[in-house]
Amino acid sequence: MFHDPDFSPFTPREKPSFLAVSRNYLENYAPEAYRTDFFSADGLWPFFPRMHYVVSPELIEELLVTRAEAFRRDDIASKALRGPVEGDTLFFSEGAEWKWQRRAISPAFRYENILALVPFFVGCARAQAAEWRRLGDGAEVEITEAMSRTTFAVIEKAVFGASENFDSEGFIAALRPVLGSFGWRMLAVMFRLPPDWAPYPGLLSARAGSRFLHEETVKLLAERRARPEATRDIMGLLLSAKDPESGRVMTDSELVANLHGFLLAGHETSAVALAWTFWLLAKDQATQERAREEAERVAGDGEITPETVENLTFTRQVLQESMRLFPPFAALGRQPREDTTLGPYRVAAKEPVYVLTWCLHRHEKLWDEPTGFDPDRFAPEKVKARHRYAYLPFGAGPRICVGMGFALTEMATIVATLLREFRFDTVPGHRLELAPTFATRPKGRLPLRLTRLSKNAPASDAERLAAYR
Ligand code: HEM
Repeated sequence: MFHDPDFSPFTPREKPSFLAVSRNYLENYAPEAYRTDFFSADGLWPFFPRMHYVVSPELIEELLVTRAEAFRRDDIASKALRGPVEGDTLFFSEGAEWKWQRRAISPAFRYENILALVPFFVGCARAQAAEWRRLGDGAEVEITEAMSRTTFAVIEKAVFGASENFDSEGFIAALRPVLGSFGWRMLAVMFRLPPDWAPYPGLLSARAGSRFLHEETVKLLAERRARPEATRDIMGLLLSAKDPESGRVMTDSELVANLHGFLLAGHETSAVALAWTFWLLAKDQATQERAREEAERVAGDGEITPETVENLTFTRQVLQESMRLFPPFAALGRQPREDTTLGPYRVAAKEPVYVLTWCLHRHEKLWDEPTGFDPDRFAPEKVKARHRYAYLPFGAGPRICVGMGFALTEMATIVATLLREFRFDTVPGHRLELAPTFATRPKGRLPLRLTRLSKNAPASDAERLAAYR
């Protein structure tokens, strides 16, 4: 078990604060959230609805799994997210509409389709390694930015295959202010102001960013429609998706919204999970070495392949433990369709219910030494001994993350590929602060120092990059 003061980066507030909503809303989860099962609190403002908070695996099972139909997405987060995430997506749809979209999209995420992408994952990691190599030994890198670029390259290839005209740097740059506006948008919604118009810092660049992202996605769709040959990338699968019963196909508006959603949710979440993972491994050098040994054993003289990726079992445990301490989505929101109960508690239709994933994953009754880093918590026998819903970085029930298998395979491949070539160290003097927005991000930089391990360096960057392209 490895301990570090940075693993508890703030003190929970006894009383919630408006300021924390836009800076680090996790501070507003009261200290009792780490000890209790369920609690309710009046909103921060007299006219706000009462809110309920769930941190018990049994109640989570009822909310997200056994009685999932009785609850929909909550109004506050939905209004704040609509804009950064487009309206006609799988993420926002409900009822029959959701069922059809989920049925249409799921085949794109079948395991054999994901495994076929492993060489792409390796290629994207190698391209990142080539960039780092150019910086020279001992270079300091900002790991969150680097992982955003890597996971964006992955999702772009997985979604579109090859697109010559896609401005990926522009897309990533436009995403920053859009995602960064999330806290302010939450505040605006709480005050019943339209989040697209409420005056907050960065409003104009967030609005321009959203417009750019939408227009780029529309262009990509038009480009693909102009060359209709069938391909197995996600866009090709969505274009050919047809409801077996009704024969319905996706409208352009649904296609644009979902493609945009995949680009956003599919890279930001994996990027932060990978950044936290490398940072945790830099703190805990013994675990880093153990994961590197596994990567070397599994890859042998070559690369991670669709056949060997499953053998990265300890690497997956590291990723799971990293997403326990720093879950990319720190909370999930629901709202009952009508007045109801959850366990013994009454919940009115207008009252949102939040699963506090951050607190659940650090709950005193569910985890030994909750703020310590220990990937062995995810050894199979330990997982079996725990309640299934004590851990939910990808959610649970019918609305569980559709990209879970994709993300886990992608991340394990990237971690193993980069660990074989570099040692990661922390930078003295850096202290962690959080600034969660759409995902659980650090405030400012998350710097790491790199040392190249020459025995695993590939013979030729050009060769690797050519294979990737
Ligand atoms: C580490 C990476 C990821 C994490 C931690 C993550 C987390 C989540 C969580 C917690 C949910 C459930 C939200 C809820 O129940 O309210 C979710 C849903 C979703 N995720 Fe992910 N996700 C990741 C990667 C991806 C990827 C790679 C994609 C697609 C390419 C994706 C697409 C989606 C979609 C479309 C939904 C909505 C599903 C539905 O409502 O039916 N995610 N994700």
